[in-house]
Amino acid sequence: MNVLGICGSLRRDSYNRSLLRAAAERAPAGMTIHPDDRLSAIPLFNEDLEHDTPAAVRDLRRAVAAADGLLIATPEYNQSIPGVLKNAIDWLSRPAPEEVLVGKPVAVIGASGGRWGTRLAQNALRQALFATESVPLPSPALFVREAQNAFDADGGLIDIAIGQSLDALLVEFARWIEITHRHRP
Ligand SMILES: Cc1cc2nc3c(=O)[nH]c(=O)nc-3n(C[C@H](O)[C@H](O)[C@H](O)COP(=O)(O)O)c2cc1C
Repeated sequence: MNVLGICGSLRRDSYNRSLLRAAAERAPAGMTIHPDDRLSAIPLFNEDLEHDTPAAVRDLRRAVAAADGLLIATPEYNQSIPGVLKNAIDWLSRPAPEEVLVGKPVAVIGASGGRWGTRLAQNALRQALFATESVPLPSPALFVREAQNAFDADGGLIDIAIGQSLDALLVEFARWIEITHRHRP
């Protein structure tokens, strides 16, 4: 089971990238998580470019198509998702018949410095994913709040409860991938 980990932040010391790294280290048996850094190379979406899709977009599309599922770690920017993440989703949602998100199992997690731990961003992300006809894991959710306390200076996850929640989410995600693949038309 190959899962592509997408980070919604381009920041070098991103907590969300650290969260994805922790997920990769703790992936349950049978699941491999590959954190991906391709978002920084994706140009701004422009319908005019769709006829000659940029190589970076084609590359990301191929990686998404090949993955059994996506694990998206999003920060919260102004109570929504960062533009770079929405931009990538817009590219991945088009054009027919290359809508690689259709039917794709997706797990949503997120970390922020605030007290609500990306609740609003994850809600916004689920709304966009709904439009893409991907199949987000319904529950559990993982909201990492006050992320500065959850990771050490090297980005290692030091919050035991968050680690346990992450483990539980990944086990459910493995089950979700199996279920959605079984019911694929
Ligand atoms: C433009 C901008 C807007 C932000 N808005 C919010 C917000 O609405 N809610 C929140 O909890 N944190 C907000 N933050 C703080 C981010 O959650 C914090 O910078 C976080 O560490 C970003 O994720 P990263 O560490 O993966 O880069 C904002 C940060 C930026 C740069």
